[in-house]
Amino acid sequence: MSSERGQFSSRFGFITAATGSAVGLGNIWGFPTQTASHGGGAFVLVYLVLTFLLAYPALMAELIIGRHTRHNMVGALPQLTTRPALKAIGRATGLYGVLIASLILSFYAIVAGWLMAQVPAALVNITGQLTDTNWFAQSSLIRDSLFCALFSVLTAAIVARGVKDGIERWSTRLMPALVLLMLGLVASVLTLPGAMEGLRLYVVPDFGLITDPGLLTSAMGQAFFSLSLGVGTMLVYGSYVSKTDNLPLTGAYVALIDTGIAFLAGLLIIPAMFVAQHRGIKIYSSENTLIAGPDLILQTLPELFNSLGFVGAFIGLIFFLLLSIAALTSSISMLEVPVTFALEQFKISRSRATGLVASVIFSISLLILFNFEQLFGAVITATTKYSQPLLGVFLCVFAGWVLHRDKLLGEISEGFTDVEKSLFWKIWPGYIRFICPLLITIMFVQHIVN
Ligand code: PFF
Repeated sequence: MSSERGQFSSRFGFITAATGSAVGLGNIWGFPTQTASHGGGAFVLVYLVLTFLLAYPALMAELIIGRHTRHNMVGALPQLTTRPALKAIGRATGLYGVLIASLILSFYAIVAGWLMAQVPAALVNITGQLTDTNWFAQSSLIRDSLFCALFSVLTAAIVARGVKDGIERWSTRLMPALVLLMLGLVASVLTLPGAMEGLRLYVVPDFGLITDPGLLTSAMGQAFFSLSLGVGTMLVYGSYVSKTDNLPLTGAYVALIDTGIAFLAGLLIIPAMFVAQHRGIKIYSSENTLIAGPDLILQTLPELFNSLGFVGAFIGLIFFLLLSIAALTSSISMLEVPVTFALEQFKISRSRATGLVASVIFSISLLILFNFEQLFGAVITATTKYSQPLLGVFLCVFAGWVLHRDKLLGEISEGFTDVEKSLFWKIWPGYIRFICPLLITIMFVQHIVN
């Protein structure tokens, strides 16, 4: 029976695993494309402000509940109270979180499969066998199912090895590789003709757009998705953190690194789009907005790489490898949520829990793939637009109102002795009680109204 709880071996181990979770397709794909469709620098500015005003406090709520209870989300929330009604709400919230983490993984694995297929496509390009390229490069039900299966197996293989030997070990191997690949790509793309025009759009905010309500809500949703909030991922990673770690500082590192990498990804993608335009590739859609979403990553950028010949094929290979790595370190954190729930609630072994849960999630991925038009967009909207913010409100309420203030203080002071005198303690409890739930609710209602 291996239901014994794991623990990260060091603060560095936790930071790489948590940033591995946070840094994913949301940073390298979502952030640049949202920036492109919301007027460049204005979006970047709002995103940065919201990350530190709202997403960081919510991240802290999850980490603190996790470390305090040493449980998965379903077991953790009821532990914060003795009142039966609140316990039931806590359990239901936890189960909702487990469901949403699983559903996010089911579509994330499809997208990651598309990106992983581009790696052999680029390899075939490099070796010059252009006739075979199409099979890997073009979407088909069989290709998408196979690569989704491959990605799901890789994810499960890491999670089955446990916290230290699986999640931590692979995150510490993959994250530095990701940062190095990204720096190399940014440096090479910025030297290409046209890149400076993209850079200007990216870093110079158009202040006229800052009050646009669509911009605010998109930036908020993006910040929540990017920091993996609401679904219990950070809560369960928090439950593996040592009591000697300073949580507010460690959480701040995670938020800073996540934001830094999103910013770096923008420095790569937006200038790359303008390099593509310089080479005659269309980058504006019929509505005169920059092309975003799958078309950007799976069409515009591959066209750019192809137009650059051999060097382009090589850049393409590295780019898709980078996206696949980023997706993998995030998907392991999503799978960890239902797996920890299964092994802690049903007292089964980790490998069994992983096999069972991964098979169920892969079946959902197949269901989505085979009913793509009806399900794909709907699952993304239901999970990331509605459920993540809503769950975020519940988690803030549990940390701010249900967990007793003395216990909260006691938990944070482990690894942070002078917490009572700190700015964090002066601001954060009020934030988590009033401002975070209120603002997230406003955003949530806006989503529904719009
Ligand atoms: N933060 C990840 C990204 O930016 O791609 C996505 C994510 C991971 C969302 C884990 C939710 C989650 F539980």
